[in-house]
Amino acid sequence: MKTRTQFFTTPIYYVNAKPHLGHAYTTIAADVATRFKQMDGYDTYFLTGTDEHGDKIVQAARKNNQSPGEYVDKISRLFQDLWPRLNINNDQFIRTTDPEHIQVVQNLLTRIHDRGDIYFSSYEGQYCFGCERFYQDRELKEGKCPDHGVAPSPIKESNYFFKMSKYQNWLIDHIKTNPGFIHPRQYETEILSFLKEPLEDLCISRPKSRLTWGITLPFDENYVTYVWFDALTNYISALGYPDGELFQKFWSSARHFVAKDIIKPHGIYWPIMLKAAGIDIYDGLNVHGFWNVSGSKMSKTVGNVTDPVAVTNQYGVDAFRYFLMREMVFGLDANFTEDVLVSRINSDLANDLGNLFSRVLSMNFQYFKGCVPDMDQNLHSDLCLEKDAQNAINHFHAAMAAYEFSKGVEAVWQFISRMNKYIDVNEPWNLAKEASGRPRLAAVIGNLLEGLRTVACLIYPVMPGTSHKMLTALGQTIPETGFVHLDRMTWGLVQPGTCLEKPDILFPRIDVAKKPAPAAPVFKPALKPRITIDDFARIDLRTGIIRAADKIEKSDKLLRLQVDLGSETRQVVAGIGKHYTPEELVGKQVIVVANLKEATIMGETSQGMILAAGRKKELILAGFDKETLPGCPVK
Ligand code: ME8
Ligand code: MG
Repeated sequence: MKTRTQFFTTPIYYVNAKPHLGHAYTTIAADVATRFKQMDGYDTYFLTGTDEHGDKIVQAARKNNQSPGEYVDKISRLFQDLWPRLNINNDQFIRTTDPEHIQVVQNLLTRIHDRGDIYFSSYEGQYCFGCERFYQDRELKEGKCPDHGVAPSPIKESNYFFKMSKYQNWLIDHIKTNPGFIHPRQYETEILSFLKEPLEDLCISRPKSRLTWGITLPFDENYVTYVWFDALTNYISALGYPDGELFQKFWSSARHFVAKDIIKPHGIYWPIMLKAAGIDIYDGLNVHGFWNVSGSKMSKTVGNVTDPVAVTNQYGVDAFRYFLMREMVFGLDANFTEDVLVSRINSDLANDLGNLFSRVLSMNFQYFKGCVPDMDQNLHSDLCLEKDAQNAINHFHAAMAAYEFSKGVEAVWQFISRMNKYIDVNEPWNLAKEASGRPRLAAVIGNLLEGLRTVACLIYPVMPGTSHKMLTALGQTIPETGFVHLDRMTWGLVQPGTCLEKPDILFPRIDVAKKPAPAAPVFKPALKPRITIDDFARIDLRTGIIRAADKIEKSDKLLRLQVDLGSETRQVVAGIGKHYTPEELVGKQVIVVANLKEATIMGETSQGMILAAGRKKELILAGFDKETLPGCPVK
């Protein structure tokens, strides 16, 4: 059988600033996908790199008083050095200043030019010298450049244009006939809706009088090529297009990982460039959302650009990789905060996974002197976790194959929680008390060791370091290539008789107390005297639904509510008018004190009371986290 192949890429990042959390996410996601495909039996190739030409880079170099060449070498090095620290295993790192790349860009331009899809034309437009680009009227703010606040100058310039418009219908058709070409679905919709408007031809040159830091057009040495034409080509130049072996082997299986900021060049320019050059179209585009930091967009001026080196130095590489994969639903935006990171480390890693690992290995040590017990085959089948494990493998596989990393991770953690329950239910410590419990004890520990092995394999793509640590502790040999094949995931590979060490701690708990928590306002109303349960039972609390609400004239805080209690509707006068408007109350579920004596408040009958928390300044209605029927007793 021919081996299936898979080629994954990340964007090549601009070298105008240091790598940050966003770059780390995309590259880790592609690494996780690559490792998963390897486990799934694919022959993989994984490419990342840096984008080094264009205005932005020249400006950044100038700011640093360096030549563009010196500057790009320095920043590109930061990216190249970062990836191994994040345990990213790329097969190649491409730079657009590599001579081989430059040659391929020129070759591609020649091809498209020869085929008649590049033309020369003069262009008149509004040009901002600060940005070194033309602006459309609709992009200007009150006639001025949004970045520089100055009116752009009208200039006339001759340039080369790429006939994108010619391929618009072809592209629409290609997207529609290849489901999954742009993934997830919402981004396919976005591209298709963009393609409802006529596509403009793309200006693909810059005169050398304005920019020299670029690749010279092969058919006119007075021009350099536009940076996107240069950048996108990296995906084929890296494989040695046109004749390279890697190109022959991997190109048809190319999937590009990008964030939503650059779907237009990837979803529109790039397939059209390939089509115009007569090259096969890539297989697909995986688009993810944006990481915000503590709720705001990452930005240098705000000073919240998260440095992956600092985070991993403090919390470890695997915890960082785990958090990124678990927390972002692929395709949607996500939020990075240190608090959430720490609480995930403590709950998911230290508690769920770490404790399970050390509990099981410690019990094996305590009850069997560390030597894996032989399972009684009869007990094996009725006790084993094998079915749960198979279930986890199936869910994990389906999610990961669909690039739903957070779901894949969840499937593993569900299994971890099954294993923790399995310990609680089987109470090995009780089985160990009697000689008659020994066979069952052996089966329980044997199954748990197998379960741990399954977990160790499944976390490999996301946490390769922890996976290896666990497998080694379980007496497994790690394949030389590093990855664990999914088809080795059969039950029963932890060899009876193998002697295992006492476990190391996988993830130490992070002491949250050490981090000063933001001060909460102190509010300590004195507690009331104690009552008995019978006292409490005298209060008839019921669920209710507010059907109508209006203000009581002459009062700014009283509202008249009609509350549905199922069997009847009660009028309740409630002092919540400063905190809720009548409109927002209608339909709300509340808790009603249903056996309170009727009272008259400002001339209005009140047949009960609804519960709320807080003080005068802030009152919050008590409710339920799921829908209830009106009239249910609240106990
Ligand atoms: O666009 N959240 O380079 P770039 C998630 N050179 N991912 C983020 C992110 C965030 N807040 N910020 C950046 C370029 N990224 C071009 C690409 S490709 C042929 C040329 C990640 O340095 C994400 O992958 O601006 C995004 O698409 C990429 O960095 C943009 O990197
Ligand atoms: Mg960018």
